[in-house]
Amino acid sequence: MPPPQIYVEKTLAVIKPDAIHKASEIEAMILEAGFTIIKKKRLHLSPEQCSDFYAEHFGKQFFPSLTAFMSSGDIVVMILARNKAIACWREMIGPTSSEKARESRPNSIRAVYGTDDLKNAVHGSYSFSNAEREIHFMFPGEIVEPVPVGQQAKD
Ligand code: TYD
Repeated sequence: MPPPQIYVEKTLAVIKPDAIHKASEIEAMILEAGFTIIKKKRLHLSPEQCSDFYAEHFGKQFFPSLTAFMSSGDIVVMILARNKAIACWREMIGPTSSEKARESRPNSIRAVYGTDDLKNAVHGSYSFSNAEREIHFMFPGEIVEPVPVGQQAKD
């Protein structure tokens, strides 16, 4: 009989161009926190792809600088799985502003590796539907299997 399959929550993590040189350190923190990295790839998005990815922010004052920054270099995208993966990864990355992160969450990834509001080292999906959208955006056409019992990341 095949092993039982259960669905473990998944989220999309992105290491942004400003933190790409720290990718292996950040990946080690991710594993240390009990996530399973289901898929991972390094890529370089075009400005148009970045505009699509961040479409919900279209029209905001920071949108042009955001798409220029995100398309300025390589990024690492990862599908992470864990119990409460979405909230847990958001908790680990800290607030959007790296300066605020250093004040309120000094051990968070943005506090340690980020610079300001824009160059904030990492991205994380903020909701279940947003995670589904972002995973399909970065891994189009790829089937992401449920994580089998036994390979599931611990709490
Ligand atoms: P947002 O979705 O609000 O934050 P988060 O990344 O924490 O989910 O914003 C998306 C990105 O846009 C953010 O990571 C960096 C950039 N940004 C700015 O450059 N200036 C800003 O004032 C905000 C709110 C975001």
